[in-house]
Amino acid sequence: MAFIGRIRRVLSRKFRSGGRFGKINKAWLGLGLGLGLGLVGGGTTIGSCGVALYFLTEWPWSVKASGGNNPEISLPRYPWAFNGTFKAFDHAALRRGWQVYRTVCHACHSLQFVRFLDLVNVTHTAEEVKRIAAEFEVEDGPDERGDYYTRPGKLTDQIPSPYPNEEAARAANFGASPPDLTYAVLTRRRGVDYVFSLLTGWMEPPAGIPPSEDRYFNVYFTGGFTTMPRMLYQGMIEYDDGTPATESQMAKDVAEFLTWTASSEHDTRKIMTIKCIGILLLLLVSVVQINRRNWSHVRSRRLAYLPNIITREPRHPTSLLVDESYGRRSKKSGSLPD
Ligand code: HEC
Repeated sequence: MAFIGRIRRVLSRKFRSGGRFGKINKAWLGLGLGLGLGLVGGGTTIGSCGVALYFLTEWPWSVKASGGNNPEISLPRYPWAFNGTFKAFDHAALRRGWQVYRTVCHACHSLQFVRFLDLVNVTHTAEEVKRIAAEFEVEDGPDERGDYYTRPGKLTDQIPSPYPNEEAARAANFGASPPDLTYAVLTRRRGVDYVFSLLTGWMEPPAGIPPSEDRYFNVYFTGGFTTMPRMLYQGMIEYDDGTPATESQMAKDVAEFLTWTASSEHDTRKIMTIKCIGILLLLLVSVVQINRRNWSHVRSRRLAYLPNIITREPRHPTSLLVDESYGRRSKKSGSLPD
């Protein structure tokens, strides 16, 4: 309380008519109030638009609107380690994620916009990636006789797709082609949460929904039935680093890995943002300081208006020099009032 009282005393001293801001308080207060009200008004409008949009998209009604025969449920939010201004990818998780992709998902899904080179120093060392690339068969050619041939992969190759073309992929998966996973996370809102939930969402169809012969029920898949079977089973992988390979651990690692493939600039982007804000703050401080210095002669100037209220004679002291008789008639004409 004493602190608030002190602030009040300091403020009232500054805004008294003789105080530091005494001159401004009338004219500028109006302007300040106007500006403040404008800002508050604008802020409220933008804020209420945001709140309205939020409710339109996030509120349970929007899920109910798609209800009826569609047993879709809303996505849970997961506390991803890389969410947050000062957070980066966990590269050990990316490495495990690659292992899951390589051993499980690569049977059906391509990752065609990633080159082996991209993995270097992200999930593996250059030597390791060379060894990984050599395990893949890559089609190359034509050679000098005009034939196409296969050779072991190199660092500069793209990760080869499991199927030669989309038709082959469709034929092998009951008519649905497994989409490329490079940007899968970006194809829908809260894509990481979606991929994780999808990978852990297989279950028996609830009562009232007839089971399907060739399709599998997943609560998170739009429509409920998907041609992608449940893929992750506890212990199906042995992680290099000895992490227990539970179903949710593998789903989490591969979801984080797919976030990296979709936005590999994630870490650099955050570092750049932090650096930029730091530099801009320094610039702001110096600009404010330069501005104060440049205008200081105006701020420290004192204008005085000195009417001679006693004689109503010419007010400027130099008028004495111009007309002496004037000066004689009134000695006080040029003197400053006390
Ligand atoms: C047996 C082949 C197969 C394997 C292995 C497989 N998938 Fe799929 N996946 C599919 C098919 C087929 C679809 C298309 C489903 C559809 O449209 O009904 C699909 C669809 C997807 C989708 C898109 C879902 C959507 O909403 O459109 C994602 C994401 C996905 N898979 C992730 C993965 C991940 C991650 C793995 C590895 C853990 C994996 N898949 C393993 C066959 C597979």
